[in-house]
Amino acid sequence: GASLPFANAPDTDYAQADAREKAQTALQQVRQQLGKTYYPFINGDYQPTTETVDSVNPSNPSEIIGKVGLLSIDQAETALNAAKAAFPGWRRTPVKQRADILRQAAELMEGRREELSAWICLEVGKALREADGEVSEAIDFCRYYASEMERLEGGYIYDVAGETNRYVYQPRGIAVVISPWNFPLAIATGMTVAALVAGNCTLLKPAETSSVIAAKLAEILVEAGIPKGVFQYVPGKGSQVGAYMVKHPDTHLIAFTGSQEVGCRIYADAAIVQPSQTHLKRVIAEMGGKNGIIVDESADLDQAVAGVVKSAFGYSGQKCSACSRVIVLDPIYNTFVERLIEATRSLNIGAAELPSTQVGPVIDATARNRIQDYIEKGRQEAEIAVECEVPETGYFVSPTIFTNVSPDAKIAQAEIFGPVVAVIRVKDFPDALAVANGTKYALTGGLYSRTPSHIDQASTEFEVGNLYINRTITGAIVSRQPFGGFKLSGVGSKAGGPDYLLQFLEPRTITENI
Ligand code: NAD
Ligand code: ALA
Repeated sequence: GASLPFANAPDTDYAQADAREKAQTALQQVRQQLGKTYYPFINGDYQPTTETVDSVNPSNPSEIIGKVGLLSIDQAETALNAAKAAFPGWRRTPVKQRADILRQAAELMEGRREELSAWICLEVGKALREADGEVSEAIDFCRYYASEMERLEGGYIYDVAGETNRYVYQPRGIAVVISPWNFPLAIATGMTVAALVAGNCTLLKPAETSSVIAAKLAEILVEAGIPKGVFQYVPGKGSQVGAYMVKHPDTHLIAFTGSQEVGCRIYADAAIVQPSQTHLKRVIAEMGGKNGIIVDESADLDQAVAGVVKSAFGYSGQKCSACSRVIVLDPIYNTFVERLIEATRSLNIGAAELPSTQVGPVIDATARNRIQDYIEKGRQEAEIAVECEVPETGYFVSPTIFTNVSPDAKIAQAEIFGPVVAVIRVKDFPDALAVANGTKYALTGGLYSRTPSHIDQASTEFEVGNLYINRTITGAIVSRQPFGGFKLSGVGSKAGGPDYLLQFLEPRTITENI
């Protein structure tokens, strides 16, 4: 273990009036910059594109946040060539220098904290408090991976008499980072800076709906001193230019976070050795979840209700870590459900930027329609217990609770990625664990209980990457709760944890007979 605990960047305290004022000022300032065009950053320059796409505010879709230039296949080829050309210089750049660029990026983010939160809030409809937490996480990723690379740099020495043995890490080559929209700054930053500090030339392809925030990250990395060709911002269509870069023979590594469907596609595409390719690709894929919280008969119900509401409806359920199944033991089922319904009915639903908002919009019309289809399906499968009024403007979906849901119902198995919760009644604790484990995912899970034997049993038998006992199941903190799942939730080591950077490196052993 490390000697000193990692110091996480503190979130803004919005209880302070001046913090709230600063946030409002930042929103106004960002509003004055809306509608600009953001082009790909290739080999040290912004390159115009023939096609652009509008990125809009999900709380008010008539507000255009920015226009995003879509990379062409030719431009992708140019960018990959630039990365190839920059690699020899970047791999020779001392680790300290690479790490210092990350630390400088962290400083720049800290200096632009309110502004970045405002962009996140307006571009992806995330409430300010949560947007601010995301800025902290992005800063933490920069500082944590900088230190991690310095820790790994020395490698290991396994000398014996007459022989030296050095175990060292080298970069892999060209990394393609493909990020989702739901943590548009933190996740894009985490994957990108990990790849960079390990010495890989890195191309960032953000999700189409969050490419403006990713452009801000690009600005920050450039200002922090990243050399040309080493980092490139390549917004574009995932299924087209994203897939092209995944399949490209010069790509060594793909770091992906997103849906299970796309992650599995990338895993398969990357496995095919292309003509002229002389290596196998490494794929890190963080995918979806269908995360459950068990509430047993000994649970503190105040805590359980508040924890479920926050885990399920925070950012409208659009977190891979969000709770979408609540598994409740029979003796407390009715009491718990009654109180959950009451708490959910009192949630404030509105535009993400309003300080009173607890549940904002979903990302776009496609997502809203998909979630509403699941809700229609749910009506046929279970009892609908809560639906609330939502604003007319914006992509809003009501927080929705289904009760008496069968464990194998569609709404209990599919990742809906919206504010929809299935409550499942179980007879006893073994049954609860069986239902909790009965999905193809293994990302996060929770238990509310004051029974030590249940807590012990869940610790060993609840099949999830991140298990949370008597607290919310979202909001993992870098280095404190390294984050990621297994089964069909992902392949790779945990983000913000001690094994993460190893995936971006190639270990070598050098033995000398002396
Ligand atoms: P998505 O899979 O639709 O898109 C993710 C990225 O993949 C985007 O940049 C997209 O353009 C790109 N893409 C799409 N098709 C591609 C292809 N064929 N080849 C290459 N790239 C392609 O996911 P999303 O809607 O942006 O994000 C939501 C999903 O992400 C949810 O399933 C959620 O659970 C998951 N997620 C997981 C984690 C985690 O850490 N496990 C974190 C956040 C989000
Ligand atoms: N890391 C994010 C969370 O824990 C997804 O909520």
